[in-house]
Amino acid sequence: MYRIAAVLMVLPLLAQEAGEIRTPKPAVTPRFQGPRLMGVRPGKPFLFRIPCTGEKPLRFTASGLPEGIRLEDGILRGTSPARAGEYRVKLRAQNRHGRSERVFTIVVGETLALTPPMGWNHWYTHYDRVRDSTIREAAKVMVESGMADFGYAYVSIDDCWMNKPGSEDAELSGPVRDVQGRISANKRFPDMKGLTDYVHSLGLKAGTYTSPGPLTCAKFVGAHGYEEQDARQIAEWGFDLLKYDWCSYGRVAASKELAELKKPYELMGKLLRAQDRDIQMNLCQYGMGDVWKWGAEVGGQSWRTTGDLGLEKDTRLPGFFSIGLRNAKLWEYAGPGKWNDPDYILIGWVGSARDQRAEPRRAALTADEQYAYMSMWALMASPLFYSGMMSRLDEFTLNVLCNGEVIDVNQDTLGRQARVVRLTEAELVLAKPMEDGSLAVGLFNLGEKTGKIRASWAELGVKGKKKARDLWRQKRLGAVSAGVEMEVSRHGAELIRLH
Ligand code: GLA
Repeated sequence: MYRIAAVLMVLPLLAQEAGEIRTPKPAVTPRFQGPRLMGVRPGKPFLFRIPCTGEKPLRFTASGLPEGIRLEDGILRGTSPARAGEYRVKLRAQNRHGRSERVFTIVVGETLALTPPMGWNHWYTHYDRVRDSTIREAAKVMVESGMADFGYAYVSIDDCWMNKPGSEDAELSGPVRDVQGRISANKRFPDMKGLTDYVHSLGLKAGTYTSPGPLTCAKFVGAHGYEEQDARQIAEWGFDLLKYDWCSYGRVAASKELAELKKPYELMGKLLRAQDRDIQMNLCQYGMGDVWKWGAEVGGQSWRTTGDLGLEKDTRLPGFFSIGLRNAKLWEYAGPGKWNDPDYILIGWVGSARDQRAEPRRAALTADEQYAYMSMWALMASPLFYSGMMSRLDEFTLNVLCNGEVIDVNQDTLGRQARVVRLTEAELVLAKPMEDGSLAVGLFNLGEKTGKIRASWAELGVKGKKKARDLWRQKRLGAVSAGVEMEVSRHGAELIRLH
């Protein structure tokens, strides 16, 4: 333990010198990244872009693929097996430097999102200015920046793709539905099917959004009264995820009773389940009625546990800490196919939710705060959706978003959310049991001064000698017994895995 402390005393300095970049560059040899398994329903369209880093070109092969699924340019496509069960596929990646293997399991059954979904959502950068080209560009950048090689897969449209009743903007006005009641996208989305085809052509998945109320939160038309048609339309357009945002549903709900809170989600959950493709449902109702207790039961795979992170007031600490701390306490409710969602990752260049017209700016977070943000989201098995400006991803932001060992914590097959081991004014310790028996531990400094943070074996519930690894710097820290202690910068975090 003391050895770690000694080594780490100097690390903050080195990090500063290296422009605060902690994550080493991925190795040139192939390394599989992201989830090791994927849940699909029987007989549904199947798509999975194999996340893998290493110098390009990479050549992939697969053995044990179920009939109906083929491998093309590093993308698995086709139709999932009709029979429920676990299909173990051996993936191999090769380049001029070496090769690597991974067993990837396709779990055909009823549970989707066996690991937290990863992707990007347009909201916090583009607001009501989103258009077809925004989404295409985001998809393209997701691949070109390398994010997709780490497992980022969903490219999601948020609010504002529909028409807006009463709008004076010609692009947003027009009949909200056709004579048969089919919802129209606004003029900025001339070809929704063409758009999802494009996203799918890259091996990525497409997400969209609506509200059970008559209007969405930005006052565009919602699904109320047309839920069945809208679910069908969303499926026909080829979407793979729906964020279903409460918004104006309060005007429709008969009361604030639990049954009324559940009702719109029960309905949409059933409707999505009935479509001929898998569509994840993300409940967005800000945690009302303890949604974490029933979000899965109504057909959701994830649920926002709090209000909007972008509107959260900073206290002594930036807003993500207070949102994250509220979410952290709900650790017992998360598991494979049912994730607590503390909202998106707002780092890099990002717009302002309070002043949506303003140009995106660099998030007002220190480098340490950004590492703490990502560490917390990884440990909490949160959906990992970036919502900053894709056209302006810089090296530092990618470095925070794309650390394979940090993402492994988030995507671990066991699917446990970290337990809150300790929370005081100055310290937070989170611990996440991993499938291989190791333990991922986050030491967060909520105080105003750099200092040592310690977690003892008694607190962590482990015994004996452990090998410790610094996940951000991807470095061995040596053997430790009795506890771990590291120096943690103000508002920063260290992420350690104990084997
Ligand atoms: C709500 C949601 C946000 C976003 C906006 C869109 O505020 O919580 O995440 O979807 O609506 O209007």
